[in-house]
Amino acid sequence: MPDFSLTPEQESLRDLARKFARTEMAPHAAEVDRTARFPEEIYRKAYDLGLMNLNVPTEYGGSGLGVFDQCLIVEELAYACGGMTTSIIANCLALEPIILGGTPEQKERFLKPFCAEYQFASFGLTEPSGGSDAGALHTRAQRDGDHYVLDGEKCFITNAPHATLYTVFATVDPSLRHKGITAFVVPRTAQGVIPGKDEDKMGHRASSTGTVRFEGVRVPVANRLGEEGAGFSLAMRTLDQTRTPIGALATGIAQAALDHAAAYSLKRQTFGKPIAQHQAIQMKLANMAQAIHAARLLTWHAAWKIDRGERGTLESSIAKCFASDSALDVANEAIQTFGGYGYMKDYPVEKLLRDAKLTQIYEGANEIQRSVIARELLRAYE
Ligand code: CAA
Repeated sequence: MPDFSLTPEQESLRDLARKFARTEMAPHAAEVDRTARFPEEIYRKAYDLGLMNLNVPTEYGGSGLGVFDQCLIVEELAYACGGMTTSIIANCLALEPIILGGTPEQKERFLKPFCAEYQFASFGLTEPSGGSDAGALHTRAQRDGDHYVLDGEKCFITNAPHATLYTVFATVDPSLRHKGITAFVVPRTAQGVIPGKDEDKMGHRASSTGTVRFEGVRVPVANRLGEEGAGFSLAMRTLDQTRTPIGALATGIAQAALDHAAAYSLKRQTFGKPIAQHQAIQMKLANMAQAIHAARLLTWHAAWKIDRGERGTLESSIAKCFASDSALDVANEAIQTFGGYGYMKDYPVEKLLRDAKLTQIYEGANEIQRSVIARELLRAYE
């Protein structure tokens, strides 16, 4: 029988994340959103509690959690602030290629010292010339003895201005398309690594997003993850793991929107009664609750499948796509429930809409998720 109950360990993980989210993150969410401040003091506390390097095995200093447990945590954090959550979990995305594709020696050399301190890593795949077509990278990696020389630029990279370590995808030969893509671990201290400025974003303003340029950066062959040409599949396998927690992140934003809307609807009076007693509002709340419930279950299912060691390409794309589309709809309906107040920055729901929007775009735009879903399901009919 499938079982939806959580173990006592999972309950306490969720409680830990909930308490941290409600006491440390939520009180600062509006301020960091308004000022676009990167709240290091909060991120440091998240690190101290083991909420940052969730997917890194414990032997290398991480929390050693599966995708399901990560989702429980991420939903709680995102309930308080989607932007802070993006920055807190970005290490999981950046370190996953090392976890999946690194040798034991590389894991020891990169993960252990990294996890021993509070610091950020960034995942460098997207480039200014196009993010969706990940097989068409322009960043070059040219072999020179026992080094590669990296030249190129990455953009929209979470935490790039703060990172001490980058996992970088570059091509050894652009004519090979995805078969030339190779993954490298590049320390920020390497000469020629030039992080750019923080982008001024619509939402997720507590998170940092920027460019990073590689100008003649010499990277030892020992920092290559897997063989030449193995980078594309490594990037895809990484995203299979990390898209599901984005579904959880979107679900957390949506749950916050519903909770705000429901509480407001019980207090706000029109036509002599609370608006919660008008069917127009009840329909909205019911639709919001259905979407959130479905998003959470899709996310849990994808995570369950991946944690069983199965390929979760289809399920993670479904979860990420459905949950993020739902989050945008739910946040929009929450604003509508608040009416004019919902549009004002003094109230919490307009931020949720801005934060929800990014979940449809990052870790693969939802148009890409739909094409992945279609490809995966059509295979069954071939
Ligand atoms: N697992 C393992 N291998 C995979 C795979 C997967 N999930 N998906 C594809 N592959 C393999 C294929 O089997 C194929 O291998 P062979 O050459 O051996 O046959 C190879 O990869 C090429 O596959 P495709 O032909 O499907 O490749 P494509 O060029 O058509 O592209 C795509 C596929 C799904 C559109 C891909 O380009 C993609 O996912 N694009 C979106 C990229 C993305 O998500 N970017 C977000 C970056 S992270 C971010 O947002 C920043 C942040 O900091 C939050």
